[in-house]
Order: sequence, then structure tokens, then C-alpha cells
Amino acid sequence: MKKVIDHYYKKAKEENYAARSVYKLIEIDQKYHIIKRGMKILDIGCSPGSWSQYILKRISKGKLFGIDISNKIKTKISSKDKRFTFIKSDIFNINIDFLKKKTGELDLILSDISPNTTGEKFLDSQISLRMLKQVFAISDALLKPGKNVVAKVFQGEDLEGYLNDNIKSKYKMIQRFKPKSSRKESKEIYIIAIGKKV
Ligand SMILES: C[S@@+](CC[C@H](N)C(=O)[O-])C[C@H]1O[C@@H](n2cnc3c(N)ncnc32)[C@H](O)[C@@H]1O
Repeated sequence: MKKVIDHYYKKAKEENYAARSVYKLIEIDQKYHIIKRGMKILDIGCSPGSWSQYILKRISKGKLFGIDISNKIKTKISSKDKRFTFIKSDIFNINIDFLKKKTGELDLILSDISPNTTGEKFLDSQISLRMLKQVFAISDALLKPGKNVVAKVFQGEDLEGYLNDNIKSKYKMIQRFKPKSSRKESKEIYIIAIGKKV
């Protein structure tokens, strides 16, 4: 992906975060108050690790599991931090039962996963939607009732149909949020699914 040196990029460097993406999560957390002390959280697509860095600052004695196909995560998070477990895996290959044995039931699932973009908007949005579906499949199995999911997706023509037909009935409320720190030209938005139904 093209590296754009903007305000958030510089701020991330100054504040020692692994990526500018952290400011999107901070905005989401300030608006929805999703991350709380003691929570057990899964961070999907966690490398290079800025979301995980922020989560670890917020959860006190909680636990964090991070999944990514790339293991570049190691750079900023201390290997001595026993609250964090990294799982190197492709989310499409992971066995969800195996994952559940490792994590147990979770208080929050976050996903900032994104495909390598091709520049072809329709194709990119289809791959991103496939990723979103996998995030919700993981949430079906691992998320405790009453708890929340935050997941990135690229807007595309099939997104609303998927949310209306498959996700709305499973959560008390679904919102779409575009953080200020998300580049205007990017098609990304975050789906905030509040209160998984039993
Ligand atoms: C935008 S980055 C996430 C940035 C991260 N939230 C942070 O703050 O550092 C998207 C991540 O999705 C990961 N990813 C892409 N496809 C994946 C897949 N199939 N399985 C697991 N991770 C994947 C990439 O390796 C990349 O690290």
C-alpha cells in the first residue's frame, strides 16, 4: 500500500504506535466505549500491531489474542507481555473450533483486516465482504451474548444486503462509522454491531 505521510502518520511515529490505523480505533472507542478493563478481546488482522498496542493500554489485566497472516506484529509489543497471544494464520484457513479452544469465549471482537487492494473497486469490495463474513462467522462461535463486534469493510453494492439479511437479526443494533482519520478517498467503513443476541 502507498505510504502517505500525513498528520496521523506523523502522530503515530511520535507516539510510538506501529501504524496510523490506531487513531481509527481510538475514535471508535471514544464514541462507542467498547474497550473496558479486564476484557478478553480478539484483534483480527492485527499486524503491524497499533490496535493491539492501544488495546493492551486499555484492558489492564485483561487478555488479548491477535490473528494475522503476517507476523510483523512482534516489533512493538513486548514478548514479555503475557496478556497477548499472537496466532499466525490466514482467517480463511483457521479452524474455528481450534481457535475457540485457545481463546475461550470473548468479550469483544475487533477486525481491521483488509485485502491487498487490486485497484479494481468491485473486486476489492467483494474480497473485503468475504473477510467481513468470516469475521462474523468467528463471532457467531466465539463472542459472548450481549457483546460487540467492530469490523472494517470496503463499501460495495452487496454490503447492505448482507447486513440486512444476515447480521441485523443477530445483534440489537448495527451502525456504520467512518472515522475522521480514515482517508476520505478510502472506501473503508467500520461496522459496529452492538449486543449479540442469545
Ligand atoms: C490494515 S492492516 C491492520 C492494521 C492493524 N489494525 C494495526 O493497527 O496495526 C490489515 C492486516 O490484515 C492482514 N490480513 C490480510 N489478509 C489476511 C488473512 N487472510 N488472514 C489474516 N490476516 C490477513 C494483513 O496482513 C494486515 O496486517
